[in-house]
Formats: sequence, structure tokens, C-alpha cells
Amino acid sequence: MTLATEQQHLPALPHWERPPGDLAAAIREIKTALRARIASSGRTVQDVFTAVEERIEARIEEIEADRERGEEVWPVLEYDALRNGTVTPEQLAKVKRRGCLVVRGHFPREQALAWDADVVDYTGRNGFFENYTGPGDDFFGSVGSKPEIYPVYWSQAQMRARQSERMATVQSFLNSFWKHASDDGTQWFDPDRDALYPDRIRRRPPGSDSSGLGTHCDPGTLDLWMTEEYQKAFRHLFDGTAEEYDPWDAAHRTTGPQYPGSTMCSAFRTFQGWTALSDMDNDQGVLHTVPIPEIMAYLLLRPLLPDVPEDSMCGVTVNQVFPVTRRWHPLLYRALAPVPDIKAGDSVWWHCDMIHSVAPVKDQKGWGNVMYIPAAPWCPRNERYSAEVRTAFVTGSSPSDFPAEHHERSWTGRFTLDELNATGRRGMGLD
Ligand SMILES: [Fe+2]
Repeated sequence: MTLATEQQHLPALPHWERPPGDLAAAIREIKTALRARIASSGRTVQDVFTAVEERIEARIEEIEADRERGEEVWPVLEYDALRNGTVTPEQLAKVKRRGCLVVRGHFPREQALAWDADVVDYTGRNGFFENYTGPGDDFFGSVGSKPEIYPVYWSQAQMRARQSERMATVQSFLNSFWKHASDDGTQWFDPDRDALYPDRIRRRPPGSDSSGLGTHCDPGTLDLWMTEEYQKAFRHLFDGTAEEYDPWDAAHRTTGPQYPGSTMCSAFRTFQGWTALSDMDNDQGVLHTVPIPEIMAYLLLRPLLPDVPEDSMCGVTVNQVFPVTRRWHPLLYRALAPVPDIKAGDSVWWHCDMIHSVAPVKDQKGWGNVMYIPAAPWCPRNERYSAEVRTAFVTGSSPSDFPAEHHERSWTGRFTLDELNATGRRGMGLD
């Protein structure tokens, strides 16, 4: 009997391709169904969760050991080594184990500083900071914080970085860590074509006090348990074979829908990332991750344990970021690791499932400026979203994944259609 035939005998899961009307009832229903499906494997939810917890605990101990030896928890690669294919097997293995990395010298420092000045000029000449009153939603309300992230999408700096050859080189390298095709020949994404995903900028001036951004993850909310494609993507977690779960397998991750939210990511990203436009010391309110790419196994099974109320998914709901909390996930905080000191022109990347946060800071030294540019390879989901991107680009609108603020519609100095190069055109689905 093949595995596929065996799976046909597992109890089916109910699924909701749009957010259910009665969230509490749907959560109760899916939890009951998931437990029954796991139980049919002959293991209890507790057995499966304990196995996952041991795997995560082992990762945490590796991270703590690195820290005690004074080694950098985050892998750090030089752009030149990455471009020339001289990254060592040990370095590659560390990226795969940690799910994150810093690319040193991704762009020349002078280039990054010039882009920073361009952002200042672009927002300044259009009076942005004088008129801006705050975020257009409270998406981060579930982690009790407001980021200093601004709804600017179409500057020269952002677009030139997005369509640059250096960015394409790093994105292809990052995509190569993923399994993008199944054994049956299904191609889940094209690792060498990025779907240019427009995101925002962060600017934090010297002297800032910031409460940071609480621990959370970004790939979805209740849809991670409730849509048919995510149920297939996380099939090993939901059928009692959690040991076989591979966070680098893109199967069924690039096709399904995502529950809508005022801030969301419709795109499939292999890695989230940003490019630094200023130097940032690692004690100045920087990004932290829990550098464990298989963390979804822990997060998706945790709510099935009996100490969590039946109508709760450990605080996950729709239209609010997926919170990670000391109440439900205290173990994971031991692994929280800051990025190393960053220089302007470096880029920072983390696996799309990984837990991350931004540390608070008082009286920040220096600037804290980044452009969010992920690796979002061409795939059915990203092709669908590219229609929205094209419209937003041409009209200078906020992309539909973000609050409908549309500041740039009337701005001068926006990057224009005729400035797209071949990579930019391909990324927008124009060729
Ligand atoms: Fe995030």
C-alpha cells in the first residue's frame, strides 16, 4: 500500500477557503478534526507534540552553545562569495539549519547611503513626514506595538534595488534552499524569476525611543490550519508524521488563497528580507529571530494540547498578525537572537515562517533605516498578485496587501514605467 493510498483512509479535514463567519465554532471544529486525524495514525497529539518539542529543544541547545562559545548565531556571508559560488558547504549547512543570514556588502556602502538620501529627498519634497499621522490600521495590535514603518513603495531607491542584478543573484541563491518541484514534476515556483514584491520602508532617527515590535510570524493566520492548500502543505503535522515535515518543501504553499487582512502578504516568500540604508549596531533596537525554520511544527500543534481553551488557537485570529507569546510559547524565547551589527548596504534575510521581533530601544544611536525587499519567486500565487502590483505601480497607489493610504499618487519623483529594466519587467509580469 502506498502512502498516498493510506492517506485516503485518514479522516478528512473540514476547510474554509474564506474566513469562517463563526471563528470560535470553526476553531472547535478544526481542532476536533485535527486530533482525530492525528489519532488515526496510532499516536496521540501529545506524543507528536513531544517529538516536535524535543526537535526544537535540540535546536535551541545548539543556538545556546554557539552563543556560549562566542560564535555568531546568524550565518554571515559575503556577497562576493555568494556571487562567485565560493560559499563553503559548512556555511550553506548553517544557513539551512538557522533559516536566516546576513549578506555583507550586498550593495556597495556608497550606493546604500545614496539610496537613503534619495528616500529623504523623495519624502521631503512631497511633504510626507509633515502630513503623516500614523499607520492606516492596527494590524500589530495583537503584539502590542506599533512599528516605525512608512507606506512608501515607489521611490527610485526601492525600485532600483528591487530590479538590480545584485538583488536577483541573492534571491536565486536564497530560493535554491527550497525544494521547488515535487517528484511528480509539479513545479511550485521558478527559483530564478522574482515577482517584484513592493513593501515599505522603515526610518528611525537618532535619539528615537521605540517600543519595538512584539514576537510574531507572517505567513498567515487561521488559514494555516483552515484552508485546503495549507492543510496539504502542513500534511505531515496534521497526520501524525511530524518527523517528515520539511520547512523547505514548497509543495502546496504557492497556490492557495490567504485570508484577507488590511495588512497581509498575498505573495509566497521563500525569505523575508530587508536591505540596510544605514549602519545599525545590534543593541539599537534591531531585528531578532527565533532561528529555527521548522518552527511551524511547534506553532501549529501547540493549540491542540488540552491546556488551551477549545475555541482558541493560542491567540491567532484573522486580520491580526500571528502572535507568539510567553504565555503559550515560553520555550522559544531562549533562542531569540539579534542580527549582528549591520552596515549600510548589507541585507538581512529570514525564512518566511520564522518568528521575529524588533527589540525596543531608548535614545537610539544612529539611524535605523531599511527597505523591505523579500525573495518572492514567480509562482501561481505571486502571478495572481502581480496584477495588483502592476496597477498600484502605474498609479502610485499603495499595493492591495497594505492599507489603502495611496500617499504617492500625487507625488513627484516616483519611479516610472520607462525606467524598468528587463528584470523589473519580468518581475511585474510585463514581458
Ligand atoms: Fe513580520
